[in-house]
Amino acid sequence: MKSGKRALVIHGPNLNLLGKREPDIYGSTSLAQINQALKELAETLDLKLSCIQSNHEGELVDLIGEARGHFDGILINPAAFTHTSVAIRDAILACGIPTVEVHLSNIHAREEFRRHSLVAGVCKGQVSGFGLESYLLGLRALTSELFKPKR
Ligand code: DQA
Repeated sequence: MKSGKRALVIHGPNLNLLGKREPDIYGSTSLAQINQALKELAETLDLKLSCIQSNHEGELVDLIGEARGHFDGILINPAAFTHTSVAIRDAILACGIPTVEVHLSNIHAREEFRRHSLVAGVCKGQVSGFGLESYLLGLRALTSELFKPKR
């Protein structure tokens, strides 16, 4: 029997340019390829997946706010908004949906301003530095949160 669990994958600003954007940092994998790999993994994890990308902070806030009742978990790469957006942090808190933060690059090994994540403290955890694998590891971690027996 299918679990019926649903997860929302949210990609933040400029991630639509993956593959062409600073390939030495972000690799040559496109966003479409990341989404395809996530969908394939989701099938094996018995999870229904929706993937979305936006360059607009308010749109991301709306998406997170509207996720309650539609999704059981969120996998998010807030991209540059990781380091600036109190609004996205508050939206994650407000929606109350278990959320895992992912980054392609290791944000802790880059410029000082990237080392701090405003969303990390309201997420279940963070996976950073493994390229496409960050997303796949993040989805596995989110799934194990969603299937944890409730105490
Ligand atoms: C990123 C890291 C951010 O600092 C940066 O602004 C991005 C991508 C990553 O996936 O490594 O756009 O979130």
